[in-house]
Amino acid sequence: MSPLKVAVVGANGKVGRLLLTQLKNNSSFSTPLAIVRTQEQVAHFKNIVGVDAVLTDIENASVNEIVDAIKGYDAVVFSAGAGGKGVERIFTVDLDGCIKVAEACENAGVKRFIVVSAFKAEDRDFWWNLKGLRSYYIAKRSADREVRRSNLDYTILQPGSLELNEGTGLFQPLDKLEEKASAFYSVNREDVASFITQSLLHPDATVRKSIPLVNGNEPVEKFIQSL
Ligand SMILES: NC(=O)c1ccc[n+]([C@@H]2O[C@H](COP(=O)([O-])OP(=O)(O)OC[C@H]3O[C@@H](n4cnc5c(N)ncnc54)[C@H](OP(=O)(O)O)[C@@H]3O)[C@@H](O)[C@H]2O)c1
Repeated sequence: MSPLKVAVVGANGKVGRLLLTQLKNNSSFSTPLAIVRTQEQVAHFKNIVGVDAVLTDIENASVNEIVDAIKGYDAVVFSAGAGGKGVERIFTVDLDGCIKVAEACENAGVKRFIVVSAFKAEDRDFWWNLKGLRSYYIAKRSADREVRRSNLDYTILQPGSLELNEGTGLFQPLDKLEEKASAFYSVNREDVASFITQSLLHPDATVRKSIPLVNGNEPVEKFIQSL
């Protein structure tokens, strides 16, 4: 198989940076593309990280402009987020930004699309009363539903609370998810990045699936097989 060409929206984020480095160092992938929103970030990714980079602010870009950025790639990863900076930005980045990128994938003929959503986004009872997170979850849930309605080979990853610890390579099996106390529904960003990499390499196990991602005791290879 020829090396996969992957474009990452939200490349400058904490998950995005880890992912770009993993993709760059894995011979199954061609030089990845960082989609970022300032000229300084473009220079950083090209000159320091050593990957390709393009300036496309998904909030203000048209779908056609996003098509121009991702054309010719095999897969797009959406890991952008407003970071809780106001309801409007949550809607323009996490919701409409994600939907625009999905539309752009369809228009550009990029079938593979991986989205970083949020844990139990589908379950209103879980998040309705989570302090300060209602708008965020409305955006994530609605974006996920639009992605599921697309004809893309999507994978929707739904990580628990994101941590900055070193990756463990271990995940909580889905049939044992409820055994965890909710306070421990967390996952290291490095594990999210490596699971994205694994999903790109194992489409058979991950395409058209929504996958809750929480650290646990199961090695990633076994976790993937169980999906
Ligand atoms: N925090 C949690 O506990 C948690 C839990 C579950 C899921 N998530 C989701 O996981 C994803 C990744 O998290 P993270 O920690 O890596 O987030 P992060 O560090 O805040 O990164 C988000 C990235 O999105 C980029 N972005 C924002 N607006 C953009 C725009 N208009 N155009 C292009 N890029 C834009 C930001 O760019 P700049 O660098 O220029 O600001 C930033 O690099 C997010 O979608 C988040 O909602 C988070």
